[in-house]
Amino acid sequence: MAFSFRNLLVFIALFHVSIVVAALPPCQTCGSPNESPPAPEAGTSPPEPEAPYASPPELAPIPPPDLSPEPSEEPSDDGVFDVTEYGAVADGVTESRLAFSAAWKAACDHPGNSTFYIPEGTFMLGPITFHGPCYNDLSPNVEIKGTLLAPIRLTAFMSLHWIAFKNLKGFTVTGGNETGKLDGQGEAEAWKQSSCEIAARCKKLVTSMFFINISHATIRNITLLNSKGFHLGLHQSNDINIYNVNIIAPEDSPNTDGIHVSKSSNISIFSSTIGVGDDCVSMGAGSNNISIYDVRCGPGHGISVGSLGKYNNEKDVVGISVRNCTINSTENGIRMKSWPGGRPSNAYNMTFEDILMINVSNPIVIDQEYCPSHRCKTTEPSLVKLKDILIRNISGTYNTKSAVTLLCSSDAPCENIRLVNISLNYLVPHTPRQGRFNIKGFLNGLQVINSRF
Ligand SMILES: *[C@@H]1O[C@H](CO)[C@@H](O)[C@H](O)[C@H]1NC(C)=O
Ligand SMILES: *[C@@H]1O[C@H](CO)[C@@H](O)[C@H](O)[C@H]1NC(C)=O
Ligand SMILES: *[C@@H]1O[C@H](CO)[C@@H](O)[C@H](O)[C@H]1NC(C)=O
Ligand SMILES: *[C@@H]1O[C@H](CO)[C@@H](O)[C@H](O)[C@H]1NC(C)=O
Ligand SMILES: *[C@@H]1O[C@H](CO)[C@@H](O)[C@H](O)[C@H]1NC(C)=O
Ligand SMILES: *[C@@H]1O[C@H](CO)[C@@H](O)[C@H](O)[C@H]1NC(C)=O
Ligand SMILES: *[C@@H]1O[C@H](CO)[C@@H](O)[C@H](O)[C@H]1NC(C)=O
Ligand SMILES: *[C@@H]1O[C@H](CO)[C@@H](O)[C@H](O)[C@H]1NC(C)=O
Ligand SMILES: *[C@@H]1O[C@H](CO)[C@@H](O)[C@H](O)[C@H]1NC(C)=O
Ligand SMILES: *[C@@H]1O[C@H](CO)[C@@H](O)[C@H](O)[C@H]1NC(C)=O
Ligand SMILES: *[C@@H]1O[C@H](CO)[C@@H](O)[C@H](O)[C@H]1NC(C)=O
Ligand SMILES: *[C@@H]1O[C@H](CO)[C@@H](O)[C@H](O)[C@H]1NC(C)=O
Repeated sequence: MAFSFRNLLVFIALFHVSIVVAALPPCQTCGSPNESPPAPEAGTSPPEPEAPYASPPELAPIPPPDLSPEPSEEPSDDGVFDVTEYGAVADGVTESRLAFSAAWKAACDHPGNSTFYIPEGTFMLGPITFHGPCYNDLSPNVEIKGTLLAPIRLTAFMSLHWIAFKNLKGFTVTGGNETGKLDGQGEAEAWKQSSCEIAARCKKLVTSMFFINISHATIRNITLLNSKGFHLGLHQSNDINIYNVNIIAPEDSPNTDGIHVSKSSNISIFSSTIGVGDDCVSMGAGSNNISIYDVRCGPGHGISVGSLGKYNNEKDVVGISVRNCTINSTENGIRMKSWPGGRPSNAYNMTFEDILMINVSNPIVIDQEYCPSHRCKTTEPSLVKLKDILIRNISGTYNTKSAVTLLCSSDAPCENIRLVNISLNYLVPHTPRQGRFNIKGFLNGLQVINSRF
């Protein structure tokens, strides 16, 4: 049984709460034109790209190029496979893809533990996929001491990713203190291309570092800069720790999500700093047991679940925990978003707690009319059910009139939403308090306890 907001008020327990409920003007929460497009669904994307080279597919055994020392010397019998020993040149110009492929192949086939090693220096690297499975179904570790530069031109990319890791198990990708940089060079061309929101056929969004079907892995101490699209993507992966990661792109760079998770389980993202032009972290369909903590987010569009409900047979989102984070100068703080109309699924058991908001525009948002293109049938309610959501101990400041926005579906009402110990101060004093708490659609059980905003 769903309640309209009139009925719902009966169920609200208010202590120290001073709120006025108002209908939203249509576009207040529609998002900027730079909102994320639907997550690129690797599962449904075209098959592995053919690299734009006349060479064999990426994983076919590629002989070391001429530049390398004599292969018979077996440059690496200690299990360390240095790309420069396979012909990579750290001059920032020479395309090093063949050398990287050869070094990877050797490391992957090595009968024992191995390390794929990228020393200091700057390497120009075209799109590449590091495939497994490897010897004994264990991946080489990956050490990136230097800087990798992506080609500037989008035409160099047949694929939706720059550097991909696929079908691998049990490994660490790590940099060092200051090194370990992946520079997507999105600013030079990609960001100027027409975005998916305004173009009928949008340009490719190339993810800088994409992990698909990996498990038992750690990704740490790397910096991702100026991606053309998402910075780091995890798809169909399980048991991954991501920490000490820096992700940096300008506030106005389009679609540059920090980390996007889809169809993946048992993921922890922590002790990292993410400032981008879109969501710092977004958790799409099939995100299960994802824990995010000690993350500094901003600028950007905050930490999001979704967008959901766009595709058929989306898996549920279950078990999300976001805690002990600082969200600074972002468009949204925490947000759950689903498309109007669209497909049914569920998102439940989600907790957002101990979060400091600094000058955030919209700190707490449920948006089931998410439509960045403004070309959806917003009259058709979302079919995504959001339930069992705890939002607790959120403090700080915000700068628009809506501290809390709950735009729930009328067909799949939000259920069991608890706002506890919320303390948010409006940065622009002496303006009407109207509109700070916006509710639309249907809600089944909302509690607001010990909160003010
Ligand atoms: C290889 O790595 C595994 C797991 O990291 C470790 O347990 C094992 O001892 C290593 N083997 C050798 C020969 O170093
Ligand atoms: C996932 O990767 C493992 C190797 O770790 C491989 O054995 C398996 O076939 C891959 N699964 C798919 C669906 O490709
Ligand atoms: C990884 O980064 C952390 C924090 O930036 C630093 O303390 C640590 O020493 C780094 N680890 C390595 C192996 O460089
Ligand atoms: C990390 O940086 C610190 C200070 O800059 C330096 O003393 C240390 O040697 C570095 N460690 C590594 C592994 O590069
Ligand atoms: C969630 O994932 C963590 C590892 O990130 C794991 O320790 C924990 O057991 C998982 N919980 C469930 C309910 O699967
Ligand atoms: C997630 O972790 C739990 C607890 O360790 C485990 O039971 C479950 O199988 C893991 N999920 C996947 C998809 O492996
Ligand atoms: C919480 O975040 C602070 C600041 O980022 C950090 O110093 C602290 O270690 C974090 N604690 C936990 C338990 O994550
Ligand atoms: C909810 O999700 C958390 C992970 O965020 C998990 O530890 C917990 O067991 C889940 N609870 C239920 C009732 O599923
Ligand atoms: C928040 O971000 C602003 C603008 O980037 C910066 O000046 C300020 O120092 C940040 N505040 C905190 C507490 O990190
Ligand atoms: C509330 O969250 C803040 C971080 O915003 C944290 O410092 C504080 O310890 C939390 N309070 C409780 C009671 O957990
Ligand atoms: C808050 O952010 C707005 C832009 O969103 C900016 O104009 C304003 O100066 C910021 N205020 C503070 C106190 O940082
Ligand atoms: C809410 O905050 C108060 C302190 O302000 C604390 O005593 C109480 O435990 C908190 N409640 C919850 C549910 O976190």
